[in-house]
Amino acid sequence: MHIYHHIQSLRDALDAERRVGKRIGFVPTMGNLHEGHIALIEQAQSTNDIVVCSIFVNGLQFGLNEDWDKYPRTFRDDCEKLKAVGCNYLFHPDDSEMYPNGLDTQTRVICPTMTDVLCGASRPGHFEGVTTVVTKLFNIVQPDEAVFGIKDYQQLAVIRRMVEDLCMAVQITAAPIHREADGLAMSSRNAYLKPDERERVKQLQVSLQWAAQQIRAGNRDFDVIELEAKSQLIGAGFRPDYFSICNSKTLQPAAHDDQCITILGAMFTASARLIDNVSIELN
Ligand code: PAF
Repeated sequence: MHIYHHIQSLRDALDAERRVGKRIGFVPTMGNLHEGHIALIEQAQSTNDIVVCSIFVNGLQFGLNEDWDKYPRTFRDDCEKLKAVGCNYLFHPDDSEMYPNGLDTQTRVICPTMTDVLCGASRPGHFEGVTTVVTKLFNIVQPDEAVFGIKDYQQLAVIRRMVEDLCMAVQITAAPIHREADGLAMSSRNAYLKPDERERVKQLQVSLQWAAQQIRAGNRDFDVIELEAKSQLIGAGFRPDYFSICNSKTLQPAAHDDQCITILGAMFTASARLIDNVSIELN
């Protein structure tokens, strides 16, 4: 695996690959790789000649009181995992390479309406940080295809919208959520969970599945379903951030006749904030 820390040297290497007709797949990450990330690499390998992974803990998408400084940085382990799966290129820039003019004056990419709801409501500026860094990474790597996990459903929907709105020449592919045996969606932040919480956090997925079942069975009292699901989370000892039944594309509250619905939930445990979602298609 070739490892690059500088934009120009990565560009030169990828230009050479493009000149001989290679199709380039890309998986952007913040490192601390788990099976879910490896599945994204495998997904990218299935439809591309070479795969580039990036590891960059992007300060622009963390709020002032968030976990940027304690976000797990496990570069050596990550490299071993990427080599084992056969990833071709790793881009690992530092802050000055990505933000040479500093964060405050960085030009930003704004995707209105979809970014101030759900996670965006409790993490102001987060998605602006994501869309900005993903745009920069797309400009650096110039991939044919980029793979994002469905676990971060709002991120995926926002990036899809950004790519459509800004006519970016990259195909966005969604990869399924990787789950632990009890249904908990894999996440780097699961490492923060205390042992007693770890037992109970599957309630988020249980409540999402319950809500999906209600809707499949014809219940369209979305407000009531959301309230009941929040009480289930409170009953299990958690503080719900949101539990929302949304239009899968726009992320606005679902209308009664919407066919593509995504139910998104976020909750606080004593030590972490967890998110998960379930999508359903009605016909
Ligand atoms: O999903 C992530 O890990 C990050 O939000 C991303 C897409 C790598 C941008 O920093």
